[in-house]
Formats: sequence, C-alpha cells, structure tokens
Amino acid sequence: MSRDIEAAALAIMHGKLVAFPTETVYGLGADATNEEAVKKIYNVKGRPSINPLIVHVHDLSRAQEIAEFDERALTLAENFWPGPLTIVVPIRSRSKIAKSVLAGLSTIAIRIPAHPVALALLKISGVPIAAPSANLSGYISATRSKHVLDAFADRDVFVLEDADECEYGIESTIVDLTSGRPTVLRYGFITPEAIGEVLGHEIQACSSLMQLKAPGMMDKHYSPKTKIRLNATSLQVGEIGLNFGDEALISQGSMNLSKDSDLIEAAANLYDMLRRLDDYAQKNNIETVAIAPIPNEGIGLAVNDRLQRAAF
Ligand code: TXA
Ligand code: MG
Repeated sequence: MSRDIEAAALAIMHGKLVAFPTETVYGLGADATNEEAVKKIYNVKGRPSINPLIVHVHDLSRAQEIAEFDERALTLAENFWPGPLTIVVPIRSRSKIAKSVLAGLSTIAIRIPAHPVALALLKISGVPIAAPSANLSGYISATRSKHVLDAFADRDVFVLEDADECEYGIESTIVDLTSGRPTVLRYGFITPEAIGEVLGHEIQACSSLMQLKAPGMMDKHYSPKTKIRLNATSLQVGEIGLNFGDEALISQGSMNLSKDSDLIEAAANLYDMLRRLDDYAQKNNIETVAIAPIPNEGIGLAVNDRLQRAAF
C-alpha cells in the first residue's frame, strides 16, 4: 500500500486526480493550488462550478497558512481534528488556493481527515488537496473502492484502494464560523450538541434556509435511479425494502441498515446499501425502494438528511 500512496502522491503533484479513502467517504482529490487540476474534478464529476470544494490538509499549521482561525475555530480544530468535521473560515488573501476551489466565495471549507491513507497522501504530496466525495454529481456517495472504480473506470483517475470500508460512511459535519453565530450547514457524525458543548454555547443547527450557504446542498443529491419512499412501515407492490431494526419490509433483495437499531452502523451501511438496492431494483424492474423510519437523533440526523435529499 505504501508504494501505492507514493505513486498517488506523485500523481497529485503532477496535477492528476486521485480517489482516496477517508474516514467519512472516498474523496476525488487534486492539488488545491493547481487551477487546471482542480478543474478536472468538476469535469470528471459533472459538478456545477458554483459548488465549492473542501480542502484537506494534514496539520493545523498548514490550515492556518490557508485560512484565518479565530479562537472558536482553533477550539474546534483542537477538539475534533483529525476527524469528520469541516470548518468554514475566512480565506487568507495570500493563500495559493486555486480560484475554482472557492467558487467565488471569500471563505473556505477545510478539514484534517482521520484516515491514515489520506493523511499519508497529504504528507507525502506536501500540498493541500481539494476533494469532493468521489461520486458522479447527484448520485450516491462512495464508501468502498468498488464504488469509485464503478464510477471512474474509464477516466484518468488514480484510485487508491483500501481494504477497509470508510469508518463513518457519511460525509463530514460542516460548521460555518463566518457569520456571527456558528452554524451547522451539513449534519454528520459530529453532532451540533457536541460542537456546542466544546464551544460552551448552543449553536445554530441547519435549516433549509441556512443550507443555501453551502451551495452544493441545494440540488438533487445522493439520488439512486430508483424512486425512494421514506418512513415506510410496510411494503407496497413493486417495492424493495431498506429496514432499520425490525424487519418490517420483507421481500426478495430487501436489506437492513442495522438489525440492532444502531445508528452508527446504519450510517456506515447507508450508501453501500442504497447502491446495492438501486442496482437490484434496476435489474429487476422494481420501481421504488421503501425505507423504514430512522430515529432523528445523534447521527440519525445526518442519515435522515441524506435520505430526504435522496428522495427529493
Ligand atoms: O466528508 C467529507 O466532507 C468528504 C470527504 C471527501 O472529505 N467531502 C465532501 O465533499 O463531502 P463534497 O464536495 O461532496 O461536499 C462539500 C460541501 C458542499 O455542499 C459545498 O457546497 C460545501 O461543502 N462547501 C464548500 N466550501 C464551502 C464554503 N466556503 N462555505 C460553505 N459551504 C461550502
Ligand atoms: Mg458530495
């Protein structure tokens, strides 16, 4: 693997795209200081150019060279990095970040990932890496190397495979510190309560209005080809089921996010199961994936947020 990481780091340094595992989902990365390389990300993903990218770095001092960290940002970084929290802070005017990473904003979304492969790639390449989730724009995010290979097999993307699955399986929490009160723009493994506790006061959790601040949150997202029906307690004709806990949705091909009703396990399984159900449904002329109710607490907030967008 280490030789692969070195080759991947070289690819990054040469302006190529590298798909790499993180503890949340796979990222599709490029040197964040190389305009041409960053443009390839938008092109290969089919991503609208108005949707800015998250920049990944391997240590806090590198992050501080790129962006301004006030006391609250430092507190969050010290408590949650490396880990699944993205912090939106003002960019420094002398930072070398390519313009298209920012999509016109004067703020930047930045994080230190906790996955050893991602950290090694960042360290060896020596540059900040811009990386959205490694899926085609609008489709379900990738949590296994197989998902990435399926999407980009015929594109010029170096795929760093990892035997382990992405631990959390759902994208990082995004917290915005640039507009007065800290605001969670996207739910993830780190809950608004956990952030509030560390900052010593309650923080604003995302409302649909707030999500307009994260431009990529507006569109269709995480969407399978098959229709989605949420909060299903029984199956209708022509449906396949995704259960949580009790097996209320029983049919050939149905799956269970967590037989033990464990929300952390459910989040880790979510994208892989949605992809498998989508494939099965497409092959068997099934119109709809019916999904059991998921408790709206803890990481369940993030699971429900993604499901609502998938059903949109
Ligand atoms: O876990 C993750 O965050 C993964 C891994 C690869 O790190 N990345 C990821 O990237 O989920 P992406 O591109 O799929 O989602 C990034 C989100 C988008 O909704 C984008 O609009 C928002 O972050 N974003 C980026 N820069 C922003 C900024 N300056 N202000 C507000 N939102 C921003
Ligand atoms: Mg994404």
